[in-house]
Amino acid sequence: MPHSVTPSIEQDSLKIAILGAAGGIGQSLSLLLKAQLQYRLKESNRTVTHIHLALYDVNQEAVNGVTADLSHIDTPISVSSHSPAGGIENCLNNASIVVIPAGVPRKPGMTRDDLFNVNAGIISQLGDSIAECCDLSKVFVLVISNPVNSLVPVMVSNILKNHPQSRNSGIERRIMGVTKLDIVRASTFLREINIESGLTPRVNSMPDVPVIGGHSGETIIPLFSQSNFLSRLNTDQLKYLIHRVQYGGDEVVKAKNGKGSATLSMAHAGYKCVAQFVSLLLGNIDQIHGTYYVSLKDANNFPVAPGADQLLPLVDDAAYFAVPLTITTKGVSYVDYDIVNRMNEMERNEMLPICVSQLKKNIEKGLEFIASRS
Ligand code: NAD
Ligand code: LMR
Repeated sequence: MPHSVTPSIEQDSLKIAILGAAGGIGQSLSLLLKAQLQYRLKESNRTVTHIHLALYDVNQEAVNGVTADLSHIDTPISVSSHSPAGGIENCLNNASIVVIPAGVPRKPGMTRDDLFNVNAGIISQLGDSIAECCDLSKVFVLVISNPVNSLVPVMVSNILKNHPQSRNSGIERRIMGVTKLDIVRASTFLREINIESGLTPRVNSMPDVPVIGGHSGETIIPLFSQSNFLSRLNTDQLKYLIHRVQYGGDEVVKAKNGKGSATLSMAHAGYKCVAQFVSLLLGNIDQIHGTYYVSLKDANNFPVAPGADQLLPLVDDAAYFAVPLTITTKGVSYVDYDIVNRMNEMERNEMLPICVSQLKKNIEKGLEFIASRS
C-alpha cells in the first residue's frame, strides 16, 4: 500500500506525480509545490477543489521521510508517498501532470551525455509505466533528467513505438523537456552584468531573455538580441554572457565538488513550469506561452508562423528543439518559428548551425537506444 499521510484524497483533485521525489531536485520542487500551489487553486473557477502531490522514488525510506515531513506544512495540498514496494501505478493512476527529476546527476569532469546510459534506462522504464497507468490523451509529462536533449526523444519514441494505446493520443505534443533553468540563468546573469558595469541602475525587475535549442553547452542558444533589457553590451560582455549561460551548469557541478549538480535553482525553474500547467488545467488560463524542448515532427500539422522554412528542415530528421510554444490542454498548438527571423546574424548564422549539428547527434542517440531495445 502507498504510504499516504493525507488519508482522503478527493475525486475532484488535480494529481501531480513527481518521479524521483526524494532527490535534490525532487525534494525542493515538492516543497515549492506543497507551499505555493494553493494560490493557483484559489484563482480557479473549475470544479477542482484539491491538488494532490504523489511522490515516487526507488529509495523507499527517503521518499517516506520526505512525504511525512512535507505533510506537516500548513497548506491544503495533500501528499502521498510511493515506491516500487507499493507499485508506481498508485502514484501514476489519474495523474494529470508527471514531473521527472529521476536519475543520476553529474560529477566534476562529466558531461551530461555521460549520464545517458543510466538515465535512458530509467526514463524508458518510467515511460512504460506512464503509458500503462496514465491517460495518454490527457497527461502532460515534464522531463527534467539529463541529458534532456536525448532523453525526451527516448521518452517520446519509446511510448509511440512500444505502446499501441498511444496511437492518436497526441501524447507527443504533451511530452516536454524542461530547459527553463537556462532562461532563468540568462535573466539573472544579464541583470548582474548590467548592474556591475553601470549600464542599468539597480532595479527590481528581471530581464526576459529567450533561450532556444537544447540543454547542454553550445546547443543552448541564449538570444540576448531579443532581450527587453539589452542594448549597450560590448562584444566581450556578450561573449561572456553567452558562455556563462551555456556552461552555467558546470559552475554548480564544480562548486558542489562531487555532491551533484544544480538542485535549488532547478527546483525554482521547475516550479515555474509546473505552476503554469496547473493554471492551465485548473482553467485559470486558456493557454501557456512558454519554451520547452519538444518534438517538431508533427510541426507540419501546426499552424506555423513565418520563419518556419528556416527551422523546418530540422523536422526532416525527427527534430526536437526548445522553442517558444503555445500550449493548450491538448498540448503544443503553435510553434513560434518566427523567432528565427528575429535572431541577429551571429545567432542565426553561427550559433544555430552548431546547435543543430550537435543536437541531431543527441537526438539520434536517444532514438537508437529505443530502436535497439527489444
Ligand atoms: P539526485 O541524485 O539528488 O536525485 C535523483 C533521485 O532519483 C534519487 O532520489 C533517486 O533515488 C531517484 N531515482 C533513481 N532512479 C529512479 C527510478 N527508476 N524511479 C524513480 N526515482 C529514481 O539527483 P538530482 O540532483 O535531483 O538530479 C536529477 C536529474 O536532473 C539528473 O539527471 C540531473 O542531471 C538532472 N538535472 C536537470 C536539469 C535541467 O535543467 N533539466 C537541471 C539540474 C539537474
Ligand atoms: C544544469 O544545467 O545545471 C543541469 O543540467 C545539471 C548539470 O548537469 O549541469
